[in-house]
Parts: sequence; C-alpha cells; structure tokens
Amino acid sequence: MRTRAPWSLPEPTLAYFPNARFVPSDRDLGAGAALEVGGSRNTDCQTWGGVTVADPGSGPSVFGHVPVLAQRCVELLTPALTRYHLDGSKAVLVDATIGAGGHAERFLEGLPGLRLIGLDRDPTALDIARSRLARFADRLTLVHMRYDGLAAALAESGYAAVESVDGMLFDLGVSSMQLDRAERGFAYAKDAPLDMRMDPEASLTAADIVNTYDEAALADILRRYGEERFARRIAAHIVRRRVETPFTTTAELVAVLYQAIPAPARRTGGHPAKRTFQALRIAVNDELDSLREAVPAALDALTVGGRIAVLAYQSLEDRIVKRVFADAVASRTPAGLPVELPGHGPRFRSLTHGAERAGAAEIERNSRSAPVRLRALQRVEHEVEPRQQATGKGDS
Ligand SMILES: C[S@@+](CC[C@H](N)C(=O)[O-])C[C@H]1O[C@@H](n2cnc3c(N)ncnc32)[C@H](O)[C@@H]1O
Repeated sequence: MRTRAPWSLPEPTLAYFPNARFVPSDRDLGAGAALEVGGSRNTDCQTWGGVTVADPGSGPSVFGHVPVLAQRCVELLTPALTRYHLDGSKAVLVDATIGAGGHAERFLEGLPGLRLIGLDRDPTALDIARSRLARFADRLTLVHMRYDGLAAALAESGYAAVESVDGMLFDLGVSSMQLDRAERGFAYAKDAPLDMRMDPEASLTAADIVNTYDEAALADILRRYGEERFARRIAAHIVRRRVETPFTTTAELVAVLYQAIPAPARRTGGHPAKRTFQALRIAVNDELDSLREAVPAALDALTVGGRIAVLAYQSLEDRIVKRVFADAVASRTPAGLPVELPGHGPRFRSLTHGAERAGAAEIERNSRSAPVRLRALQRVEHEVEPRQQATGKGDS
C-alpha cells in the first residue's frame, strides 16, 4: 500500500488558495456561488467553490480543484493505458489542461507505471500540480504551454507529434482557482483589475480590449463569444464611457453593464455581466482558436488504440469538439459505394453516445459538474497517407 506523507501547503498554493476555506466561488457561465461538501472519494474533505481542502483533523492533506467526471474519464481512457502492462507501464497520457492536477492524480495513483505529460498555460496552476503530484515526479513532465502547442510540448518531452501517446485528456475552461483569485479579474462578483489572462505572461488583457477595440469589434466579441443579445448596446455604452475614463477594474465594467442592459432583461437569465465576462475571457485567451487547433493535433498524436476524452463546459467549446469528433468518425469512402474502400474507413470510433453529462449525485456534490459535456473517441485505424512518419515513443 502506498502511504502519502502529509506536506505543508507550499507558497504557490497559499497564494492560489488565499481564502480557500472561506470564499465560495462561481464558475463559468451561470454557475452560482456554491458550497459543496464532500468529494467523489474523499469524504474528509470540504469543497468550497471547487477548491477542496482537507479537514484539518483528517490526516493527510489533500487539496485542489475537484475533478469533474473523474471516474468516467478513468474508465474511458484506462483500456488504452493498460494495453502494454496492467500498471500502465510503457503508456503515456497527456493531460492538456492539468490545472490543479485532480484528474492527473487519479491516473497516476491508479496506474503506478504510467507516464504523464501535463500542460497548462497558467504557471500558477503548474506550481499547484507540481506540489500536489510531487510523489509521482519520476513519471511526470509538466510543460508551460497552450494546448495548441501540443506538438512542441511533445517534442520537449521526447515524443513525436504523430502516433506517440496512448491517451489525451482535455478539461476545458477556467478553473475554480482562477476564479477564486480575485486579482486575476475573471469574476464579475469581485472588484479587481480588468485582466482575465490565464497566462500572466501573455500581453493582451481585458482592459486592452474594452479600452481600445472599436465599437463594432466589441459588439462582435460579445455576440460571438458571449451570445449576448444586447451586444451592440453594451459596446456603445463601453465606448461612450471610456472616452471620459478608461476602464481599469471589473466593477467599473459591471456598472456600465447594468446601465446598458434593460431592467427587465437584467432580472432574467442570470447575472447581467456573465455573458460579457465570458466573451472577454474567451477573446483575451484566444480560447476557441486554441481549441480548434489543439483537438485535431491531439487526435494525430494518438497511437492506434489510443483514446481521447474532452470535458467542455460551454456550448461554443463543445460545438468545436463535436464537429472535429464527427469528422474523425466519418468514413472517407466516397458516398454511394456499396462497400468501404480499403484504407478509407473511419480513423476513430466514438466511445460515448453523443455527450455524457454528470449525474445528479455528482452535481449535488460539485456544482461545477452541472454544465459538463464529455465526449470520447478511440483511434482505430492508420491514416491512409500518414502526414508524417511516427518516430516512436520517447523514454517511458
Ligand atoms: C478546468 S481546469 C483543469 C482542472 C484539472 N483537470 C484538475 O482536475 O485539477 C482548466 C485548466 O486549463 C487551463 N487552460 C485553459 N485553456 C488552456 C489552453 N489553451 N492551453 C493550456 N491550458 C489551458 C487553465 O489554465 C486551467 O488551469
């Protein structure tokens, strides 16, 4: 039996969870502030807005974001990770959004031979994951990278961009920890600098967008990424207000949104700022283009028999995943032929029927799981004309 040494909370964790025991958070579109008690496996933990903290009297310290549909992700990906050895030896899993390492921990704990490559664009998340997963350090590689840089992350870790890994996991969106850190500017309920960068080294902030984009471009962002029906009115109000004083804080923007959105509409459909904040966050972080690039690259990275699972929390992301997956499971035999042409069959098969949702019990334990849509595929065929010769696996 593996024993886990208790550790004191390291500096980045303390910085990341400054009020973990006291601050309920909301997450993404529509998620209200919630206090969740209990976790899928650790009943000694309390979860505050997605941040789990151990009961101080409950022994070993377990902390971090509660992973959504974790058991289902394990069930879906494990067959691909145990093909060579039951303990996962020789298999490689890429967690493209490692966050606080909750999903990664489940895989590394359950498969003591598995090698895991974890990506995140947020260096603070990588610090958390590094601390949390320290006991697996010899099987773990962490890379500060956007997931559309998957090929570069694989190269850095000694793997080819094509047919080199056995599992891929994406748990999309913003993490509870990012929302809970008020100064990151993601949460409309907390006054903070208008920032919203997942990677603080990136140059574009939400303030840059609201203070410099022209009215039409602002309206377009709000409509496309926030599905905001008052996009034009909001854009006009923003432009009018910034002539007087440029925006610097989330509260200033929220105040303008209250003026721009008609009172009857403010009373329905959740907080009036939620769609604008989602839209700005997506634009600041280039989230949809990044995903559009990353999912096909992730499919290419899988070996035959390899599996991918993607958890999406809002419809714009899920639509991208659904479209790429539909293409991957489609036959390339010309329509009208009575039989499948050799080598033209689908490259992937679906492991989920449409999108899977979290069950009522999980949603009750963890409100972050309410909007989730999980889709998964398995690679079944070689491509007809491989785009690139696989160079084989790296050290595992
Ligand atoms: C929902 S959290 C993941 C939580 C993780 N599965 C866990 O159990 O702790 C999503 C993470 O993805 C990261 N992220 C979002 N967009 C990204 C991108 N384009 N490239 C890399 N990481 C990204 C965020 O910084 C965040 O840490």
